[in-house]
Amino acid sequence: MIIVGYLLHIDVYLLAIKDMMNKMEKNILITGGAGFIGSHVVRRMVKSYPTYGIYNLDKLTYAGNLENLKDIEHLSNYHFIKGDICDGELLQQIFERHQIDGVIHLAAESHVDRSILNPMEFVRTNVIGTVSLLNVAKNYWKERQDVLFYHVSTDEVYGSLAEGAYFYETTPYDPQSPYSASKASSDHFVRAYGNTYGLPYLISNCSNNYGPYQFPEKLIPLFIANILHEKPLPVYGKGENIRDWLWVEDHAEAIDLIFHKGKAGETYNIGGRNEWRNIDLIHVLCEKMDHKLGRKPGSSAALITYVKDRAGHDMRYAIDPSKLQRELGWKPSLTFEEGLDLTIDWYLANQDWVKRVQTGAYRDYYQLQYGERFNS
Ligand code: NAD
Ligand code: TYD
Repeated sequence: MIIVGYLLHIDVYLLAIKDMMNKMEKNILITGGAGFIGSHVVRRMVKSYPTYGIYNLDKLTYAGNLENLKDIEHLSNYHFIKGDICDGELLQQIFERHQIDGVIHLAAESHVDRSILNPMEFVRTNVIGTVSLLNVAKNYWKERQDVLFYHVSTDEVYGSLAEGAYFYETTPYDPQSPYSASKASSDHFVRAYGNTYGLPYLISNCSNNYGPYQFPEKLIPLFIANILHEKPLPVYGKGENIRDWLWVEDHAEAIDLIFHKGKAGETYNIGGRNEWRNIDLIHVLCEKMDHKLGRKPGSSAALITYVKDRAGHDMRYAIDPSKLQRELGWKPSLTFEEGLDLTIDWYLANQDWVKRVQTGAYRDYYQLQYGERFNS
């Protein structure tokens, strides 16, 4: 009944929404919230902070999938806006209309192989998009100090490591791929806005994430999907490159902690001290998949196919997360063994999600669920 009454008096309904918004303790703009890490961050913030208005701005590129947020989209403090971070006018409207107090910026082109094929798209979103956002935030917030612009970045900005070395917050930037060069550039712009205009900012640089909802073009979800369908597993070069893997929800927890307790103007490295040579990780994955699928031991490993190496392939990444642990008390919640089991189990239980991504059917979800209502 109440709902019918509200529907008949749309002005009252709008006023009620406005009242509700005004009562929010904080209004946070999260960009890229329909992507892999963004969806975990949005879910965590919406559920943990019911007094915050959470605005998820996402362009819904191939990597954006609103089905990742199906379970929380009905919550009243969650709002989705379809749009591009390069669109300054839209950004200004969002800041003004929703009185934004904080930004957690994740929207980006994120896949190294795509950056090799099409670097301009990475410059557009990662560099120009970030500067558009910085500009609008700076102009809207003016001299306010009780606000925050948090840029979620990557350890790849530091370049490729020799054995025994680690990335610290003080490690000089040395990006090697078009992706990491674009992220390094956006980090520099964030610091420049802090230094030049006094914009309160935070940056975190995280290692490789894995977990549910990762687009099946990245190593772990791609290989799970290929094993399932008995397709070749393309290992770049000799498979000797090393990555430092972190459970995505541990990253989301670190982002929450840094956003609330981090010191403005600081950088925090996030990583789980969990280095793996690609080929060793792939063998563990193959063994687990054989076991879970009830296949003969060795059947998944037989799919391993060595292919031409990625151009400019960084040899090793490894984060030293001591600062985050010491200053903010963060630590990873899972071992890699546990995280990998959870990840494989999730992909096996959600084959429909993978299929909808692979066929492109996930792209209809926005239209079905939201129509053009939020496309302002
Ligand atoms: P993703 O590719 O899964 O998601 C990116 C999201 O940004 C998508 O929802 C996409 O639709 C959106 N987007 C892209 N261009 C946009 C634009 N112009 N305007 C608005 N939205 C746009 O990426 P991810 O793996 O979740 O990474 C999120 C962030 O974390 C990125 O900034 C990435 O650099 C950083 N990061 C990722 C990792 C990792 O292992 N995946 C590690 C460290 C840091
Ligand atoms: P990826 O998941 O693309 O993350 P990033 O390049 O950002 O580290 O790749 C992880 C590692 O796995 C990297 O060394 C490249 C390698 N790789 C393959 O060997 N084969 C593949 O098909 C993919 C996607 C990655």
